[in-house]
Amino acid sequence: MEIGVVGSGHVGLVTGACLAEMGHRVICMDDSEEKIEKLRERLMPFYEPELAELVESVTREGRLSFTTDIEETVKASDVLFICVGTPSKEGGEADLSAVEKASTRIAETMDDYRLVVEKSTVPVQTGGWIRRTMEAANRRGVPFDVACNPEFLREGLAVSDFMHPDRVVIGVESKRAEETLTNLYLPLGAPIIVTDIESAEIIKHASNSFLATKISFINAVSVICEKTGADVLKVAEGMGCDGRIGRQFLDAGVGFGGSCFPKDLKAFSRIAENLGYDFKLLKEVERINQEQRTRLVKKLRAELWNLKGKTVGILGLSYKPDTDDMRSAPAIEIVELLEREGATVRAYDPKAMDTAKKILQKVQYCKDPYETADGSDALVILTEWEEFRGLDLAKIKTLLKKAIVIDGRNLLDPDDLRPLGFVYKGVGR
Ligand code: UDX
Repeated sequence: MEIGVVGSGHVGLVTGACLAEMGHRVICMDDSEEKIEKLRERLMPFYEPELAELVESVTREGRLSFTTDIEETVKASDVLFICVGTPSKEGGEADLSAVEKASTRIAETMDDYRLVVEKSTVPVQTGGWIRRTMEAANRRGVPFDVACNPEFLREGLAVSDFMHPDRVVIGVESKRAEETLTNLYLPLGAPIIVTDIESAEIIKHASNSFLATKISFINAVSVICEKTGADVLKVAEGMGCDGRIGRQFLDAGVGFGGSCFPKDLKAFSRIAENLGYDFKLLKEVERINQEQRTRLVKKLRAELWNLKGKTVGILGLSYKPDTDDMRSAPAIEIVELLEREGATVRAYDPKAMDTAKKILQKVQYCKDPYETADGSDALVILTEWEEFRGLDLAKIKTLLKKAIVIDGRNLLDPDDLRPLGFVYKGVGR
């Protein structure tokens, strides 16, 4: 099939490259000249394992190309995926202006039937807005369909999540659209859930909100574990063996960040409010998540007393491992809280330091975990990067002013640290 992708960010670029890998001819379009120029030179705009190699191979085979020209994209494609950003507005609602702009430009340009597919995470009833917007801009009066095909891509696993999905959701309003999208995704061999457009839009927000709820639930349980000497990892293990609960997304820690959970929770909550329902549960999920950040600083204060004048070493700045993304990363708020109290922060992250330098200018960036520990009054782990699992703890102890480790991701084993004389504080253990 001839496919156009409008918006070449974390979702659009992965979608385009994977569809090209599946044998389709794909044009990835973006308004950013800089991003498109870099992509033409095979330079990725963000770190995502496997993506650079995939883009390299499919562009070399001539199945993936890049442009800033929407007309070229629309004219050359049968199916158009809208993958533009839908960031949060002030009050938490999703900003859909890019979706409207893409819909209008597609409608103005299309010279024959097109299937327009919303893949960006959008509030329920956006499909209706896209249809009305396209009808108003449909200069040539050609037929078209709108569909919803939400993405469930985790950063750091996006290529694998696209090629091996748990399920594909397609929200359609015509048999033609259903057949097109079913044929497109059939080779992946995953269950294809066919719904109306509104249900597909809700599946996305509800899925992310539920996953965030699981995380806040175990984080709330971790507080009880800390007060009773229980071990939240054991609790999660015991809970997770129940097939109805499942072990995934029961990892207590400093909380969720990223471009999706915080944004989708707010958006879903506002959608409910606008529809006249106060989704209190989601507000509590957000509150618990926020509190995890301040609870970590409290643990540090309980060990160091005054933070003013102290030096705190932080390992991990990205919101999760295997990404350079710091959107809503717990590290941002935690560093700001520490610096506001007069502490000096040193930090190391395997991939996110270039991103961090644009956000956290006062941090002293280090070349590795040992330089970070050198002269620090305590070491704090905020992202569970694999390379932090194998630290030379004896060496870390000699470098730290005080042998204190606050493990915001329960990455290390207290039985490895406490016998060496460390004060170890995890989350819920
Ligand atoms: C998420 C959804 O998983 C994905 O389906 C959706 O398309 C995009 O948003 P992502 O944000 O990339 O993906 O990462 P994910 O692995 O889901 O983690 C999200 C956040 O939750 C991270 O900050 C992570 O550290 C945190 N998390 C995850 C926990 O704190 N505990 C857990 O048990 C799992």
